[in-house]
Amino acid sequence: MWQGGDTPGEDLAVITFEHVAKSYPDGTRAVEDFSAEVPVGSTTVLVGSSGCGKTTLLRMVNRMVQPSSGRVLLDGRDVASQDPVTLRRGIGYVMQSGGLLPHRRVLDNIATVPLLEGVSKKDAHGRALELMDLVGLDRSMARRYPHQLSGGQQQRVGVARALAADPAVLLMDEPFAAVDPLVRRDLQQWLLGLQGELGKTVLFITHDIAEALLLGDQILILAPGAQVAQRGTGEEILAQPANDFVRDFVGLAAGERVLHPSGSGDRTVLLDAQGRAVGVLGEPGQHR
Ligand SMILES: Nc1ncnc2c1ncn2[C@@H]1O[C@H](COP(=O)(O)OP(=O)(O)O)[C@@H](O)[C@H]1O
Ligand SMILES: [Mg+2]
Repeated sequence: MWQGGDTPGEDLAVITFEHVAKSYPDGTRAVEDFSAEVPVGSTTVLVGSSGCGKTTLLRMVNRMVQPSSGRVLLDGRDVASQDPVTLRRGIGYVMQSGGLLPHRRVLDNIATVPLLEGVSKKDAHGRALELMDLVGLDRSMARRYPHQLSGGQQQRVGVARALAADPAVLLMDEPFAAVDPLVRRDLQQWLLGLQGELGKTVLFITHDIAEALLLGDQILILAPGAQVAQRGTGEEILAQPANDFVRDFVGLAAGERVLHPSGSGDRTVLLDAQGRAVGVLGEPGQHR
């Protein structure tokens, strides 16, 4: 596991949660006491049932939620001390439900941040077209409006937009939950490939353990109140579930998911009883 170095420059874009808690004004205790480190250049997945506090945690990073106590550090600096607008421009955020601007064409949606930053329209659009290629969107869709796209295509636009400012940090809130399983599989594979190339610091949220196992270099299984039931690599969690909660969540207790490994180059893919890939096992302690 990567450990944050003390030398300046070594820990670019590491996210640190230090004993954060959140109570909403109506008294809901969304997050009890959460600490974690999201290492640079790899994917950390928060996985847990609906309402367990995942979105609340994610939005603390870009200051859309103010912790009731504790703090979130980016590269060792408390985000609370940073200008929210500047902070957000440096962090790609893919929202749980699209969040595209309905009256703007795809190209302008993707180019939103660069245009705000004063990049010329020509350059911003040029870059947006490249991003469409990157996320596998045909350039012919550039002039469409969001409602003229399928759910999967809209999700890709959301990801392209989050990548537009080339942020070191990417926050992804159930980005593939709203698309059908086949498209989801495509998008997951695409994200794995992209991470292999770009190596962003990704904080990814899902309620789907299979998705967590597939994408996460580090996985945190959350119980209500964002209590960490277990953290580790997919391999560690599958090999040694920490408790019954995790065992239930992973589905081993009920024998719902029969996992078997299948060699594939230098990595091992886990297949379920139907032969679907549900996880990837790497060398313990090695990030992709
Ligand atoms: N703005 C809010 N006001 C009051 N309660 C909220 C607010 N946002 C979320 N909650 C509550 O906090 C808990 C955690 O929500 P959330 O972080 O969205 O969980 P998740 O993303 O895991 O589904 C839930 O009980 C939810 O109803
Ligand atoms: Mg959520």
